[in-house]
Amino acid sequence: MPVDVQLLDAQLLDGRSRDGGATAVAHPNIALVKYWGKRDARLVLPYTDSLSMTLDVFPTTTSVRLSPGATADEVTLNGAPAQGEAGRRVTAFLDLVRERAGRAERAVVGTSNTVPTGAGLASSASGFAALAVASAAAYGLRLDATGLSRLARRGSGSASRSIFGGFAVWRAGANTDRDTETALDLASHAEPVAVGDLTPALVIALLDAGPKAVSSREAMRRTVETSPLYRAWAESSRDDLVEMREALRHGDLATVGEVAERNALGMHATMLAARPAVRYLSPTSLTVLDTVLRLRRDGVPAYATIDAGPNVKVLCRRSDADQVSEAVRAAASCPVVVAHCGPGACLHTGNR
Ligand code: DP6
Repeated sequence: MPVDVQLLDAQLLDGRSRDGGATAVAHPNIALVKYWGKRDARLVLPYTDSLSMTLDVFPTTTSVRLSPGATADEVTLNGAPAQGEAGRRVTAFLDLVRERAGRAERAVVGTSNTVPTGAGLASSASGFAALAVASAAAYGLRLDATGLSRLARRGSGSASRSIFGGFAVWRAGANTDRDTETALDLASHAEPVAVGDLTPALVIALLDAGPKAVSSREAMRRTVETSPLYRAWAESSRDDLVEMREALRHGDLATVGEVAERNALGMHATMLAARPAVRYLSPTSLTVLDTVLRLRRDGVPAYATIDAGPNVKVLCRRSDADQVSEAVRAAASCPVVVAHCGPGACLHTGNR
């Protein structure tokens, strides 16, 4: 059948496929300076800036197709209907997109995650970044990368950073008394970070792929409200960001790693001091932290970071990734995945 080039071009420009739907792909990101704590839960505005590396593994693919006449959104996650909170978050996000687009149609949403969901491996970052890109296209919202980052932020804060590839910083955006909701929303988005000669690897120790006992959303709220250490961490995180940006600019892996490790361990300290305490670290997480220390003593620059789960990610030189993987695998008897810098979120044009 001859391809209608004009039609195809029009669809590409519009970002939608023949059936009015759109499919997007996004990758998770791992923060080197963490986001932990919201000053506005509804707008998802953080207390501090954060900085991350988007990965080239574990992509999420999400399709959004409008379903005129339907009375509810239909959301499937890895082929099964999305349950409870996961489904509610997707519908709340689509409500926001519909409001902005001035449209009312419900949607059929299909998501396939290649990363274990809810295990502290940033599935909500790739998930909401892909949903932002696909739903904006399906509902005809024309947004640039900054606008998509703001939109993704409303689904999950860390998703704002997965719109961009490589390294990205998410601006908290300042509050003043006269700020309107629109001004606050406009000020908080991610943007790419200039990086010198640095192409690190991130060795991911998959210690536990099960869903976490306490969601990061709840853990974050509890930490801000009850941890006496939170304010100190947030303040030191501001210095960490300045030092991190400088180190990235100079391609200084040792400083990038040291700052990332102390920022992550500080974040876990704030949680341990929350009431009741939130503890994501497992005995095996500590074993991997010991392994990282040993690698450094042996002259291998390797640095750990941990998110809202027990899995440890080890930043190192590309050329050391095999040695680091072997050491982690031997110490923790766990599967290991090696990631590098990956691409930003994009519309999938392959199956139009
Ligand atoms: C520990 O972005 O999942 O991974 O905004 O409530 O959806 P919500 O939180 P989320 O939190 C991520 C926290 C973190 C650190 C980080 O990615 O910066």
